Order: sequence, then C-alpha cells, then structure tokens
Amino acid sequence: MSTETLSQSDRSQLLCEQIDAALRHSIEFDRGCPDRLREAITYSLLAPGKRLRPQLVLFAAQACGAETTQAMPAAVAVELIHAYSLVHDDLPAMDDDDLRRGRPTCHKQFDEATAILVGDALLARAFEVLATEIHPASVAAHCCAELAKAAGATALVGGQADDLDAEFRTHAADQLESIHSRKTGALFRVALRLGAIVADASPEQLAALDEFGKHLGLAFQVVDDLLDVSGSEGHVGKRLNKDSKQGKATYPAVLGENASREYATELIDQACNAIACFGESATPLLELAHFVRQRNR
Ligand code: IPE
Ligand code: IPE
Ligand code: MG
Ligand code: MG
Ligand code: MG
Repeated sequence: MSTETLSQSDRSQLLCEQIDAALRHSIEFDRGCPDRLREAITYSLLAPGKRLRPQLVLFAAQACGAETTQAMPAAVAVELIHAYSLVHDDLPAMDDDDLRRGRPTCHKQFDEATAILVGDALLARAFEVLATEIHPASVAAHCCAELAKAAGATALVGGQADDLDAEFRTHAADQLESIHSRKTGALFRVALRLGAIVADASPEQLAALDEFGKHLGLAFQVVDDLLDVSGSEGHVGKRLNKDSKQGKATYPAVLGENASREYATELIDQACNAIACFGESATPLLELAHFVRQRNR
C-alpha cells in the first residue's frame, strides 16, 4: 500500500516502526558484548520514546529531496546519542530519577555501573554507525564532526553541566536560554543538519533547517519544563514536579506558566516560518513542530 493513502498518525507509526527496526539492528553486537550490558542497552534504546530526533533527520532529508532510507544511519546515530544522554541524565549524580519512558530508569532496573557503561556504549556506537554506514567517506566525516560538536562540551554536555550547576540558578532568562539551547536544542539542530548534509542540501536549505531547529529545540525544552509542572505522569512517563524540588532553572520558574506557553507558541511559529521556502516537501516537519507545541508526553 502506498504510504500516501495513510493518515498522518498511521504514517508516523509506520515510520517509528522502521526507525525501531534500524535501532534494533544497530545494537546487534557480537560476542564481545556481555549479556547483561546487551540487555541494558536494548532496554534503554528500544524503550517506548517518541523518536522525534530520528524523525527530524529523515524529514529534513526528505525536505531536501532525498529518500528517507539514505538518512537512516544518521537518524540512528542521533537517537543513540539521545538515549545515552537520557540514561546518564537519570543517574543519581545527575537528576536522580527512577522513571523513564514509563519504566524504571536504567540504573534502577540494572545498576549504576551498568547504566554508565550503557551510555558509554551508545555514545561510541553512534559514531561507528556514522563512520561505517554513511557514504561517501567525506560525508561520513562531515556528519561525525557535526554530531561530535553537538554532543560535546560546548553543546549538550556543557548545557547539562550548567543545568546541574547551582551558580546558574539565577533565573536570568538569557542564561536559561543558553542552557536549554545547548542541553536540548543542539541535538535537535544537528538532527536536521545531518538530514540535510546526507541529502546534499544547498547552503540555503541547510541554513533554513538550522533556523527551524534552533527554534524547535528551544520550544521543545520549554514544553518539557511545562510538562514537569503541569503534565500527567501517566502520559509523560517520568516523575513530575522534580525541577522545582531540585532548584532547576526552568521556563515556568522564570516566566510563569502562561508566558512560557506563549513563548513556546511564538518559537514554533518562528520555526515554521523559517522553512516556508521548502513548500510541501516540509509538511512532515511542520506537523512535527505542531506536535511539539501540543504534546502531553
Ligand atoms: C526527553 O526527551 C529529554 C529532553 C531533552 C527533555 P524526549 O521527550 O524526546 O524523550 P523520549 O525519547 O520521547 O523518551
Ligand atoms: C535532559 O533534560 C537533557 C538531556 C538528556 C541532554 P531534562 O533533565 O529536563 O530531561 P528529562 O525531563 O529528565 O527528560
Ligand atoms: Mg536533566
Ligand atoms: Mg532529567
Ligand atoms: Mg525535564
């Protein structure tokens, strides 16, 4: 059956099944991987997440005229990084969470050392997938460099460090934006960039997708902060009301709930405007942006 005749939610489910199959395939390690580590990697990577970042990779490639299959290794690599960042984010030394994706966190289900090693393995595997499955080698190297930068000390890891640092709990809006753009926004942005790079996008297309990602990534974390104060644990699959207990700098704490909602809407509008130049080929990206604004999970 042609996917064009399917409803948007059926198409999205089908795509998530394809992403999950590729993720499963990416962790078919050979005998050197101990059983318990393998089980914990599978538990964390294949748990029921929304798979937004891999969808962004695929939709960006599609917007630039490529087949989504061409971008699947990049989609897998980005989700591997995301999954690692969640396992480490939940550790007792970081956010100390016991529920993730509606299930016990990796260190609760297994143990702390295993959770640290799961993160290490997922991180390393992401770059192995890019280096070996993206062709030609020059494009693979470009993707590795972009993903390393987004996952590194000046982006995701730097944002996580400042998120944990009490000094940054001054509730200044510009500092908050800097934390959120790095800890969450950088991976959204690079997801779109990798899709574009694999599709051999023009500099104008890459810039438009980058702008979309900048606004979407920030909006996503504003909504994540809102869900922590006003979501339902059953839908979100995480413990709620934790940010204020841990004194985290969040948008609802700085702007209030209503202004945070308005800000998220404004950011989504800006994101959508940035990709108007793509016309119909960007419809899946627009649909995903609307999902991010309205999501309850
Ligand atoms: C959660 O991301 C972590 C943040 C960056 C806020 P998601 O809400 O996309 O997590 P999953 O993948 O759907 O579980
Ligand atoms: C997590 O942010 C960001 C990364 C994992 C890089 P949060 O700490 O707000 O995410 P949740 O709320 O635990 O999913
Ligand atoms: Mg955190
Ligand atoms: Mg957390
Ligand atoms: Mg959060």
